[in-house]
Amino acid sequence: MTTPRRDRPLVMLAFGTRPEAIKMAPIVGALQESDRYQPYVLVTAQHREMLDQVLCLFGIVPDSDLNLMESGQTLDRLTARTVSGVSEVLREVRPNAILVQGDTTTTFASALAAFYEDIPVVHVEAGLRTGDKRSPFPEEMNRVLTSRIASLHLPPTSTSARHLLDEGVDPTTICVTGNTVIDALQQALAIGHAWGDPALALLSTTKHRTILVTAHRRESWGAPLSEVCWAIRDILEAFDDVQVIFPMHRNPVVRDCVEPVLAHHPRAHLVEPASYQDFAQLMAAAHIILTDSGGVQEEGPSLGKPVLVLRQSTERPEALQAGTAKLVGTSRARIFAEVCVLLNDQAAYLRMAEAVNPYGDGRAAARTLLALDHMLGFGPKPEDLSPLSLDSQLNELLTFSEL
Ligand code: UD1
Ligand code: UDP
Repeated sequence: MTTPRRDRPLVMLAFGTRPEAIKMAPIVGALQESDRYQPYVLVTAQHREMLDQVLCLFGIVPDSDLNLMESGQTLDRLTARTVSGVSEVLREVRPNAILVQGDTTTTFASALAAFYEDIPVVHVEAGLRTGDKRSPFPEEMNRVLTSRIASLHLPPTSTSARHLLDEGVDPTTICVTGNTVIDALQQALAIGHAWGDPALALLSTTKHRTILVTAHRRESWGAPLSEVCWAIRDILEAFDDVQVIFPMHRNPVVRDCVEPVLAHHPRAHLVEPASYQDFAQLMAAAHIILTDSGGVQEEGPSLGKPVLVLRQSTERPEALQAGTAKLVGTSRARIFAEVCVLLNDQAAYLRMAEAVNPYGDGRAAARTLLALDHMLGFGPKPEDLSPLSLDSQLNELLTFSEL
């Protein structure tokens, strides 16, 4: 734990998993550049290698690292250890505010620790809801509980803001910022187009049509995830010009479902988690994306890629409404049928490959700082992100997609 300077208000950012790190990185950068705040990065390391990949890419050196990951750790144990670990750092550092992001165990347990220590919580990516408390599990409840604790709510879209208003959240504490994932994607592509892993570079240039797959959700562990894998195998059997690239989550439970079905197929490439920069290029090179990931549902449409969502419900309806993402669940027959349509019917493919960018304009981190200024009494309430200002960012992302 490093001892922070005290000449400016100290803002702590607490995160622990890969997606939180990706979405917090632009805010860390904005705080470092600003002369208004002293940032303090606390990582729980709920993830280890997958977190470190992101820290390394964005050059983030944590001020405090709880190193909490344990293989096969239960939710209750992880929650308890996070509450204690974060509380200890909060008592030592006493930040003026703490930022948490999204809906993981780190998010909720850090918010709870801050509540116990009477430190205001800023919730980044607030207000996403499916309305079903067991889907996604446990994320829906994590985000609902975090909303009850937060003093400042930063929803990415007006739809998410509406959920908060419907739950009675004070409108003066809500600011629509856009999603920082778009800032992160722009920053990752600005770093350059070199591949970290030459094997992925090679795979992305073969003559095959590539289906990029990610899957890790707890509610799909076991039979549903096996069904997904059998559907992928059916697709590979039916189309010999198709290859699958599947960067597998590090969770051994996920690998136990995926490997028995797909490991020995010559056109199923089960690879280690890709660096964010490589993954962005894999998305850009893909023909179709199959995923149950939250972040990938936001990135794929921005890159003009059809996204089939391997879930029963989603808290990200914006791309569904625009027609570039579709909920297909985890049934083997349904996934096979939906992918066949996209592979066989060019018109259907092009309808879904329409690029849309409902999630952000690349300035969500800057807006986050303005909202923080307002909460801490240094500035006026910033304007909400207007949906009209989103289209201008699309061209930059699409240029990347076409490289
Ligand atoms: C967590 C989040 C989920 C988020 C996902 C992003 C919770 C309850 N779940 O799920 O919301 O969408 O991260 O990926 O907060 N592991 C490693 N190395 C790593 C990361 C994970 O070995 O770098 C293995 C460990 O055995 C670990 C297991 O994966 O115990 C599960 O990790 P955990 O953070 O509990 O849950 P995820 O399923 O990754
Ligand atoms: N991602 C990555 N490497 C990979 C797979 C995904 O960098 O091999 C990125 C992806 O671009 C997205 C984020 O990780 O920004 C999503 O993480 P994950 O699926 O683990 O979590 P979720 O978004 O579902 O919470």
